[in-house]
Amino acid sequence: MFPETVLHTDRLVLRPFTDADIEDTRASCADALTQRWLPLPRPYTSADATAWCTSVSHALRESGDGIHFAVTDARTERLPGTVGLKKTDWRARVSEVGYRVSPWARGDGVAAEATRALARRLLADHRFERLELRAATADTASRRTAVTAGFHPEGILRNAGFVHDGRVDLVPFSLLPDDLRRPAR
Ligand SMILES: CC(C)(COP(=O)(O)OP(=O)(O)OC[C@H]1O[C@@H](n2cnc3c(N)ncnc32)[C@H](O)[C@@H]1OP(=O)(O)O)[C@@H](O)C(=O)NCCC(=O)NCCS
Repeated sequence: MFPETVLHTDRLVLRPFTDADIEDTRASCADALTQRWLPLPRPYTSADATAWCTSVSHALRESGDGIHFAVTDARTERLPGTVGLKKTDWRARVSEVGYRVSPWARGDGVAAEATRALARRLLADHRFERLELRAATADTASRRTAVTAGFHPEGILRNAGFVHDGRVDLVPFSLLPDDLRRPAR
């Protein structure tokens, strides 16, 4: 499993979820754009947010599946978002990143900055060989975020994803250790 850890960027601190994050997590996960692209429970309730912040996100780390961070910004009181790893294959040394930015924090490149920090920890410090990311073809903000964080697109996976409204095509992206030597865009 990944050790519990805190990551820093110029603007952001990535730390484990606590019960202080419950209300902002509920509001962020109930948001219409979040619900459009992520198949989270609908409606997303306080009980869902409580479970995520106090047990589920921690249990996923302890299971070895990945690690999930609350993305915080010292300059703001409300939680900007989340970034995390899932589906980690420890033998192949491959993992997959996912992110969400709260409606009150969007438009400032938070997801790309947090993703780049997590990628550095995974590929440079933990010596993983590949970080994957999947974005719906129509989710322009997520595809832009992937490119800004330095990922490379690898085609289209037809009908590979699902959202509340139905099936979607996905763009798979990857980031390799060598890609970290080039500056993020
Ligand atoms: C994807 C997401 C995390 C990005 O949040 P963010 O870090 O605040 O990203 P920004 O709003 O700064 O936008 C990043 C880029 O997308 C562009 N963008 C944002 N919304 C856009 C839209 N509706 N149409 C076209 N481009 C858009 C921005 O102009 C920016 O482009 P640039 O890199 O060329 O400057 C956020 O939109 C989100 O939480 N969406 C819902 C959940 C989701 O889609 N998660 C990803 C699943 S794979």
